Amino acid sequence: MKPVRIGILGLGTVGSGTVNVLSRNGKEIARRAGREIKVVQASARDLKKERACPTKDIKITQDPFAIVNNPEIDVVIELIGGYDLAKELVLKAIENGKHVVTANKALIAVHGNEIFQAAQNKGVMVAFEAAVAGGIPIIKAIREGLSGNSIEWLAGIINGTGNYILTEMRDAGRDFSDVLAEAQKLGYAEADPTFDVEGVDAAHKLTILAAIAFGIPLQFDKAYMEGISKITESDVEYAQAFGYRIKHLGIARRTEQGVELRVHPTLVPERRLIANVDGVMNAVLVKGDAVGPTLYYGAGAGAEPTASAVVADIVDVVRTLTTDPNNRVPHLAFQPDALSDLPILKMEDVETSYYLRMQVIDKPGVMADVTRILSARNISIEAMLQKESAISPKASEKKSGDTASVIILTHRIKEKNMNAAITEIEALATIKGDVMRIRIEQLNKEWD
Ligand code: HSE
Repeated sequence: MKPVRIGILGLGTVGSGTVNVLSRNGKEIARRAGREIKVVQASARDLKKERACPTKDIKITQDPFAIVNNPEIDVVIELIGGYDLAKELVLKAIENGKHVVTANKALIAVHGNEIFQAAQNKGVMVAFEAAVAGGIPIIKAIREGLSGNSIEWLAGIINGTGNYILTEMRDAGRDFSDVLAEAQKLGYAEADPTFDVEGVDAAHKLTILAAIAFGIPLQFDKAYMEGISKITESDVEYAQAFGYRIKHLGIARRTEQGVELRVHPTLVPERRLIANVDGVMNAVLVKGDAVGPTLYYGAGAGAEPTASAVVADIVDVVRTLTTDPNNRVPHLAFQPDALSDLPILKMEDVETSYYLRMQVIDKPGVMADVTRILSARNISIEAMLQKESAISPKASEKKSGDTASVIILTHRIKEKNMNAAITEIEALATIKGDVMRIRIEQLNKEWD
């Protein structure tokens, strides 16, 4: 049988990794796919750049449209990232009857509904395993392995850069900006690193996971996102004093009122496995009603881990080349005409418990004011800690005068009650600056 011919858009880190994996494991991959897989063409911005993979059998062009319009190519691999050009290229490839494999989470989260519709009309596949959690086969696990379950919730560390920063802050007491600079040097960070630290990248991935977990359309615009840039070393230490670790989680949960879709720093009990996922590693915890909690762990970025997912998608596409398009695994796990219109909940309607840190003027009656405000909003306190300077605040956080840090852990309450309470607390003359709020999740089997 003739080899399947591949065209790669973007011969950077993941593109080179894909060529390397295909050439190193080519024989074994062909035994799995049933056909030889051959990269025949690739696009790159700079033709003179030295590549991290062998290119002698690959025609390299600066024009990515030459690939999507090349009648010799069966499958297009989109690895250029970003929204507009990637979308144009993918839609053109689909229009030309080519199957597409992409690692582009932004593209799928924002334009996926339109892309999948176009692919379905044309009878081609768009595979995107590499878009979420790099090398971890989480799309396949949820879409196929858990298809007997009603999925209740999932929570994931799905941005390696953010996890690396939080890990280094905790283990080495390092400063946020130092660690970010290192993550950028190591090539983990997005082209725009605010995507990593402000939760945009994680929200792209979470949007995709929620769609395939609950059978809902992709709704990135409704995802709540909050980054890690306001977390201080002191928060990391105080959390630890209460037996928690701070993780930047993407959480999607089905409730009777709708779907929670939220990315934010989260205190997680330190004994949970996911609380011990450190550095650039990713992990996704998925709770199905039949199977219970399941945890998927591995490298969420990098050349060959991401290539591992890209190549698995190529194999899937090759295996199904001759199947009836109506009998393939649906793009979003559920049949396209069976998607649910379950609403996405506003963040103010989400219920969680909270870690609050505030700087108070250390005099009688201050705590009574704070607890009165909390209690008026039905917020009950689970634990409280007052610290002068026992847990060394950074110089920049030190305040002159007789102030102290107060940390309060609360029971579960709707976010809108907490918003109102925080506004009132911040208005007290005895409170200095803003109240720091970090949500807490136990990640218990029963979500309580
Ligand atoms: N910037 C991403 C991360 C790369 O740090 O996880 C993989 O999507």
